[in-house]
Amino acid sequence: MDQSTANPSAPPDDREAIARKKLQRLGAVIGAVTLLFAVGVVVAIFVMATTDPPTPQTYAPPVPGSINGIDVDPAAGRQLFAQNCASCHGKFGEGMIARGVNLRESAFVQLTSDSKLLKFLHVGRKANDPNSILKIEMPAKGANPLLGDQELGDLVAYMRQIQIDARRTTTASTTASTAP
Ligand code: HEC
Repeated sequence: MDQSTANPSAPPDDREAIARKKLQRLGAVIGAVTLLFAVGVVVAIFVMATTDPPTPQTYAPPVPGSINGIDVDPAAGRQLFAQNCASCHGKFGEGMIARGVNLRESAFVQLTSDSKLLKFLHVGRKANDPNSILKIEMPAKGANPLLGDQELGDLVAYMRQIQIDARRTTTASTTASTAP
């Protein structure tokens, strides 16, 4: 602090008072900054404590609903499934050893949007695909070239339905097994 700011011609008492005032002001500024910091820390802790970790997006069934503007129907999908998919994935989508995976509990189905699942059914998955689970091919359209957007959309709706059924069954059996 140099003398030029404090009035050099002022009597020594005044100079002391001016210096004290400056010190008080500095103290107030430090106090305010400290308070702001403390409030920031409290807010940050609160936000961290009350924010849930992000949960992965899951998809509800389009029942009744539409995919890419086409109305789809899980009941129609059930029939198509029996005719085109059950030979590998099992009658209820429960999976068959060395033929097709469980679709009732498939995380891929759960985490993939309707339109992306539709696209998937159009092309299937090659055995050498890096994402392949069994290293066996999932044939495009379940190997039935007659299936179009309508049929494959119905099948997506059906897969949503059996995933819901599976979750309900799992919850029921968990409850049953823990009951006295
Ligand atoms: C010839 C046997 C076969 C038929 C028929 C078949 N699939 Fe598959 N499917 C597979 C196999 C094998 C896989 C697993 C591929 C892999 O290893 O990643 C699979 C995978 C899938 C998956 C991905 C599951 C996941 O968790 O990654 C879906 C969805 C699926 N099939 C739906 C269908 C539907 C719907 C039909 C009927 C239109 C069908 N499949 C017909 C053999 C078949």
